[in-house]
Amino acid sequence: MKDNIALIGFMGSGKSTVGRQLARALEMKFVDIDRIITEREGKSIPEIFAEKGETYFRRLENQIVEEESRDNNVVISTGGGVIIDNANIKNLRKTSFVVYLDCTLDCVYNRVKRRKNRPLLNVEDMYATIKDLHGKREKLYRISCDYSVRIDEDSTIYDTVDDIKRK
Ligand code: S3P
Repeated sequence: MKDNIALIGFMGSGKSTVGRQLARALEMKFVDIDRIITEREGKSIPEIFAEKGETYFRRLENQIVEEESRDNNVVISTGGGVIIDNANIKNLRKTSFVVYLDCTLDCVYNRVKRRKNRPLLNVEDMYATIKDLHGKREKLYRISCDYSVRIDEDSTIYDTVDDIKRK
């Protein structure tokens, strides 16, 4: 039965913030896949990427998505790259209503530009990288979700939470 909600979307789209609020509003548990990864490894995401590589990170991500999908009554916030692997989407969709936080590129950029916690965006031209990666992933987000919510500079967390709650 689909009694979980999984949030997918690009880096900076607000999956963790929205997820936490949504879980509170619906009296559900909240889990954040990236957070479980960092807790299990005892390292930050940039450290995991630098010391063990992206492939290692993706393997862990896979394993944790699989474990957490089996839980009940939980809002699952995923990392932006979760859609790269079809096995993740299969696992999430088995038990979760999957919501895509469809955040505009400008909005993403403004939220992530001062942060250094995303190894894939620690590059010279961050905007171009966001645009490129987003272009490669957009279709995957769309085909992987049951519902999508458009988010721009004017959207508040409460608008987004309300929209998902109503659905
Ligand atoms: C990634 C997104 C990050 C984190 C890692 C890789 C991606 O999560 O999982 O840096 O490939 O898009 P957020 O979407 O929470 O930033």
